[in-house]
Amino acid sequence: MRSDTPPDGSAPETCASAPRRRLLCAAVAAGLGAPLLSLAADTDPSKMPAQPGDRLAFASWDEDPRPVTPADVVLDAAPLSVYPQDGASGVTRENSRLNQILLLRLDPASLDDATRARAIDGIVAYSAICTHAACAVSEWAADKRHLVCPCHSSEYDPAKGAARVTGPTARPLPALPIKLVADKLVIDGPFSAALGAPAP
Ligand code: FES
Repeated sequence: MRSDTPPDGSAPETCASAPRRRLLCAAVAAGLGAPLLSLAADTDPSKMPAQPGDRLAFASWDEDPRPVTPADVVLDAAPLSVYPQDGASGVTRENSRLNQILLLRLDPASLDDATRARAIDGIVAYSAICTHAACAVSEWAADKRHLVCPCHSSEYDPAKGAARVTGPTARPLPALPIKLVADKLVIDGPFSAALGAPAP
């Protein structure tokens, strides 16, 4: 059992209280809170969009950068902040904030059918970029098991396709189907919707 499981019933975690690899604290620390970037034309593999077949991995600034295994993802704990990694080259696509992915494990029985179809043993993956105004969704309401955006308090239910629960956002966080390959979590298809906020 990992020691960084948040206490039951705690208030939403913040970067000050969460372990470094959880939530989006590491990305913020690395200065990735820059304006939203276009991924479409970028040929730098570290900035390219997530590709089916990419592994999910901890970023290079994490204390233990490597591909994620199911054992890293603790039931009901705050999300891990991870990135796609090209399995062939080993390049982690960590140089675009659009590639930030929230990875968490929930009780499989709590997932709706569509979410369960994208999950592995209750492990689900979502874009970390808020669909309201593209802030990083960086807080976790442990008592409700909701993802929370700190900018305007939109909440998403990760057991229900990250559907909006409350707040100003109009649509869910895009979901990412995953599968297990050689004990590594691997992207199994495209995001369910466009990433980021709608155009103004
Ligand atoms: S940017 Fe997330 S709620 Fe506004």
